[in-house]
Amino acid sequence: MDRYLQEPQTMTKVLMLVEDEQFIEGLQEFRIMMQLYDAAIKKVRTKLEILDDEFQVKHAHNPIHHIESRLKSPPSIWEKLKRKGVPLSVSSIRTQLSDVAGIRVICNYLNDVFHLAAMLENQDDVRLLEKKDYIETPKLNGYRSLHLILQVPIFWASSTEYVTVEVQIRTIAMGFWASLEHHMRYKAPHSSSALLKERLNRNAMLLSVIDYDMQDILREISGLQDVQEPRQPIDNIRYSFNSK
Ligand code: GTP
Ligand code: MG
Repeated sequence: MDRYLQEPQTMTKVLMLVEDEQFIEGLQEFRIMMQLYDAAIKKVRTKLEILDDEFQVKHAHNPIHHIESRLKSPPSIWEKLKRKGVPLSVSSIRTQLSDVAGIRVICNYLNDVFHLAAMLENQDDVRLLEKKDYIETPKLNGYRSLHLILQVPIFWASSTEYVTVEVQIRTIAMGFWASLEHHMRYKAPHSSSALLKERLNRNAMLLSVIDYDMQDILREISGLQDVQEPRQPIDNIRYSFNSK
């Protein structure tokens, strides 16, 4: 060590080496973690596909229209950690973020959303950490969706890791609104006047009426016993989400 102190150039080289090694170790840890999240996405997607197939065989109806999934990008992970004011580390990512692995399930009918969520969260190896029902209680802007934060086990050669996945379940109508609203917010983040907000909110409400009515039409035409009544009679739908 003394020798290094006497030779500043060598000291700098050693420090750079240490930093490089730490950087490479950190990078490897990050890659392993992202591989875990990717495995968790595959696992939950497969569970959903199996449930959809089972429903088709037993009830001649597919609850799922389609599934989307994504791994959060490193820049988004970095931004979110900074926003939360937590250390930029693999351990922070695992403990502080619940949406690194994200799955969005677009269902055909309103009841499908709740059936699917119940079937998924009741599986033995699924841990339900959190449930946010923005259908029962929409966000003030009109956003509706059912959010589940789950953990599923990923079995590795010599260990088992429980990995967190965010699952957003919604109808086609809810997805239509959310994707256009997201697009508009991205296009014009500062131009949301009260009138525009009110119009977006009103459209969310109209789509919600359509969701309930389409469910009701399905119930009438199918006459199936296992298709339940809409969760809210159409007459009782709140006509403005801002009234809360
Ligand atoms: P973050 O928003 O991820 O920081 O977490 P949170 O704890 O606020 O969770 P929340 O359940 O409110 O939102 C999580 C995700 O749901 C978001 O990343 C969006 O994908 C979606 N989401 C929530 N609110 C809205 C909304 O108003 N419009 C749209 N288009 N999507 C939304
Ligand atoms: Mg949010």
